[in-house]
Amino acid sequence: MSLTLALSKGKLLSGAEAFWRRAGLPFPDAAGRRLVVLVGGVRFLFVKDMDVPTYVEYGVADCGIAGRDVLLETAADVLEPLDLGFGRCRLVVAAPRGREFDYRRAGAIRIATKYPRVAATHFLERGISAEVVRVHGSVELAPGLGLADGIVDVVETGRTLEENGLVPVEEVAASSARLIVNRASQHARREELQALLGTLRRVVADGVEAVR
Ligand code: PRP
Repeated sequence: MSLTLALSKGKLLSGAEAFWRRAGLPFPDAAGRRLVVLVGGVRFLFVKDMDVPTYVEYGVADCGIAGRDVLLETAADVLEPLDLGFGRCRLVVAAPRGREFDYRRAGAIRIATKYPRVAATHFLERGISAEVVRVHGSVELAPGLGLADGIVDVVETGRTLEENGLVPVEEVAASSARLIVNRASQHARREELQALLGTLRRVVADGVEAVR
């Protein structure tokens, strides 16, 4: 049976492809709209980024590539043997420029986010009263439209924040792409996974800057 790899259809896809090709491993030419593709004896699943850890945790995929941001949010029970180094970004609290709440002194604040678990944990750990409202995208709109006082979201270049009049208030966590592995597969398919890990480790050691 082929090894199954779960990949995000989102922002990490181009980095994952570049990384795979740099490792000399086959990668589907253009996934198009096919969500399962068999190439070079590996079955590639293309799913939503938040679903990658779920497919790996439940053993549908033996391994996958997920951002640390997504792993923190899903808290999936998977092994995380390697930081692949690409897809670097930060999870931050951000607020409208000029209305940067001092949430240490403010009363209850409302935060819109795609990362409700991460946001709730962040504020709880700081003893800050925050109501967390889940949205599924375009998070930067929320403060301007009165849905929330601020957001917790991923920042890569900072352009989306900037163009929507928001500024980072605080860093929540740093993120990058991680190889994740199903616990049972780690034993059942040890040799294949060790070989893959060895190949990927060499790419990391060679310097990931070249693949970003
Ligand atoms: C992510 C994130 C920000 C943006 C940050 O959204 O939620 O909106 O990228 O990138 P930047 O700092 O380089 O501007 P994504 O593109 O994944 O879309 P989404 O809002 O639909 O989830």
